[in-house]
Amino acid sequence: MFRNQSFNYAVFGNPIDHSKSPKIHNLFAKKTGIFHTYKSVNVPLDQFNTVLCNFFKQGGQGANVTAPFKQEAYLFCNKLTERAKIAESVNTLKKIDDKYILGDNTDGIGLLSDLIRLNFIKKKYSILIIGAGGAVKGVLFPLLSFGCSIFILNRTFSNAKKLVSQFNKYGDIHIFDKTLWNIKCFDLIINATSKFIKKKDDFIPLSLVSSKTCFYDMNYQINNTAFIDWCLKIGSVFFSNGIGMLAFQAAHSFLLWHNILPETDDIIDILKR
Ligand code: ATR
Repeated sequence: MFRNQSFNYAVFGNPIDHSKSPKIHNLFAKKTGIFHTYKSVNVPLDQFNTVLCNFFKQGGQGANVTAPFKQEAYLFCNKLTERAKIAESVNTLKKIDDKYILGDNTDGIGLLSDLIRLNFIKKKYSILIIGAGGAVKGVLFPLLSFGCSIFILNRTFSNAKKLVSQFNKYGDIHIFDKTLWNIKCFDLIINATSKFIKKKDDFIPLSLVSSKTCFYDMNYQINNTAFIDWCLKIGSVFFSNGIGMLAFQAAHSFLLWHNILPETDDIIDILKR
């Protein structure tokens, strides 16, 4: 597959064309003086294991994995960090030796670092997370460990229920149901759904929001996401898309590979532009 492979780090996904990871990691490499060549690889949906095996056999040292392969990456690795075990998903792989590939999950620390940078999070904050998929699983442990209360609101109630019972041993986590609609107000609302439907303007009742509520969309795109449009529409001043989370999760992958945590501030500015 990778004849004359000229790179030793890469991000694997499908689709992958618009990935910003090569740009971020090449900037980190320049900044820190560490030499690594980082590319993006589009993986056919049924070939994740074959492609990854080939990559590591032919000189690959480290990988990032994005949708839809984070669960497969978790199963692929034969050593896992504690946070990857808890998340049951892997976004960063590191070749230890010919026998072991270590899997880590840096999404949660990426999100938490960006929320701290933005001043969107404090201990004891009440957080509403919309969504209960793989992306949420990846970030719950660091948010709970930070000391926040978390409520999960999801289209499919049973998925939220499953997630809550899986994570309640790590902290204060609940399902958000309609009985709470008029008695709860959140410090932070995070969109972790893959799609935030524009038509459902009343998806988050305004009774849950105050003038101080912060909003964070774990997605990012050049134009405003539907969630950010909604934040603007309701007059919120504290909102952000997930570009900072992307930079921080990448920085923590870089740390795992090279033992250096690169600065991210200027990179976030470059990505915003
Ligand atoms: P990811 O790994 O990105 O989290 P996922 O595991 O497919 O992707 O999860 C997507 C999340 O977005 C889920 O919480 C999903 O809700 P369900 O559990 O009901 O499937 C949510 N989601 C996807 N499309 C949605 C839509 N049109 N409206 C509301 N929620 C949606």
